[in-house]
Amino acid sequence: KILILDFGGQTSQLIGRRIRDAGVYAEIIHGDTELTDQILTSDVKGLILSGSPYSVYEEGSPRPDKKVYSLDIPVLGICYGLQVTTWENGGKVAPLHTKEYGRSAIRYRKTDCPLLKDIPDNFVSWMSHGDSLDELAPGFDLVAESEHDLPAIVENREKGFWGLQFHPEVTHCEYGSRILENFAVHICGASKGWSMDKYVEDAAERLKKQVGNEKVLLLISGGVDSTVAGGLLLKSLDPKNIYLMYIDTGMMRKNETEKVSENLKKLGAENLLIIDARDRFLGPLEGISDPETKRKSIGDTFIRVQEEEIAKHISGDYFLAQGTLYTDLIESGKGVGNKAGVIKSHHNVGTPLVEGKRKEGKIVEPLDMLYKDEVRRLGLLLGIEEKIVYRHPFPGPGLGIRIIGDVTEEKCDILREADSIYIEELHKRGLYSRIWQAFAVLLPVRSVGVTGDAREYGYVLALRAVVSHDGMTADVFDFPTKDLLEISSLITNKVKEIGRVVYDISSKPPSTIEWE
Ligand code: XMP
Repeated sequence: KILILDFGGQTSQLIGRRIRDAGVYAEIIHGDTELTDQILTSDVKGLILSGSPYSVYEEGSPRPDKKVYSLDIPVLGICYGLQVTTWENGGKVAPLHTKEYGRSAIRYRKTDCPLLKDIPDNFVSWMSHGDSLDELAPGFDLVAESEHDLPAIVENREKGFWGLQFHPEVTHCEYGSRILENFAVHICGASKGWSMDKYVEDAAERLKKQVGNEKVLLLISGGVDSTVAGGLLLKSLDPKNIYLMYIDTGMMRKNETEKVSENLKKLGAENLLIIDARDRFLGPLEGISDPETKRKSIGDTFIRVQEEEIAKHISGDYFLAQGTLYTDLIESGKGVGNKAGVIKSHHNVGTPLVEGKRKEGKIVEPLDMLYKDEVRRLGLLLGIEEKIVYRHPFPGPGLGIRIIGDVTEEKCDILREADSIYIEELHKRGLYSRIWQAFAVLLPVRSVGVTGDAREYGYVLALRAVVSHDGMTADVFDFPTKDLLEISSLITNKVKEIGRVVYDISSKPPSTIEWE
């Protein structure tokens, strides 16, 4: 495998993905982790030092364990990784007057660098740096320059070190994946044994070892991660021991409950606990219109319902499974520690149930080594329908935060109907997969309309469709007008309570994706 030392660069995670895409297993650890024998096991064939928001000359900037400069396995430094190596080995790094940002063609000064195998001169790299190498460290050679005459690739073949000023992990970097593959496969000699089939095999073994014949409970939301986690548990362990609990909050999408149970049955579920908790959720929400109070009420009810239902259905000791992904661990600060460390806390972390089980050591997270796109591939491999595997994200509080103002069963029904027409049409028109997240929002305003001779006051429905990579920022989807108009009239024709449809044209920032 290849180990990536992460110094908090925005694209550090992508390095791991690209290496895995090349068929080589990669793991990310804190940039300043001490490189003990337990970390540098014999299967580690190479190290990559990532980029960072820091400058090497800034106080408190992260440093790798010094051992990294005298290892007998190859090391690749990317951006900050190259600068810190230069700085600590007698070279000079200084701020640039003008940052080098975006595309930059790379001119070779040397052509025999193994990193550049099968890569033509003048390929277009992708830069993002405010510091540059002023002087290479002794023993390091310049391999290539950027179009601004700055050092772009260096090597110290004797020491087994290569360095890139640009970011090969970014999709805009031509030949970036090939450079990383050249490093992992040709320079490090790492084997191409990483595949989803292998993951399924390894996961089954891990799960059997960890859980044995004990019971496992998984809470199913209907989303991609929990469904795939369920599929993997069912494939790896005895389905008799697996309890899949789905809680119908009354704020789910149309036919969600039926679809979830049908899918899990197909995957071999034997203990499916479909909990009708609609009254328990909607009751306490009556009359509440403040968004955060609604969220808190829904969150509290989740905790209460889970406790009640677990006590009812599961006796004795059990493990709690979660669909946590590799990125969730990294984002909640468990994977790496740095300035960009805790970006957001994973919403599953922190409930008394999860915390308690964590303390007992009774948590299993079978997807914790996977990126989202790998989870999707795994889902397909396990036989889960494409429609589920490529589903847009759906918030925990469900339609509760898409009904602006107070939530009632009637409003849930109206929104469910309209949302389902919208989403179905997106599928039919081939638009769904081009959108990161699409949904409808029911507004608490009535607007006047005419039906026949009568004037009627109907609800206003807002349609939202955004493109994004991670939900942190989002652009409005450039909706084809014809489709938008047709979908709007379908909705007003079929859902009589809705008198007017509008399209939300705000990006994030300054808006958010959801309305509440
Ligand atoms: P915003 O609205 O903050 O949303 O731009 C970013 C992403 O997070 C989802 N979201 C939530 N997910 N509980 C969740 O589980 C919530 O309370 C919540 N609020 C927003 C939203 O759907 C989008 O994908």
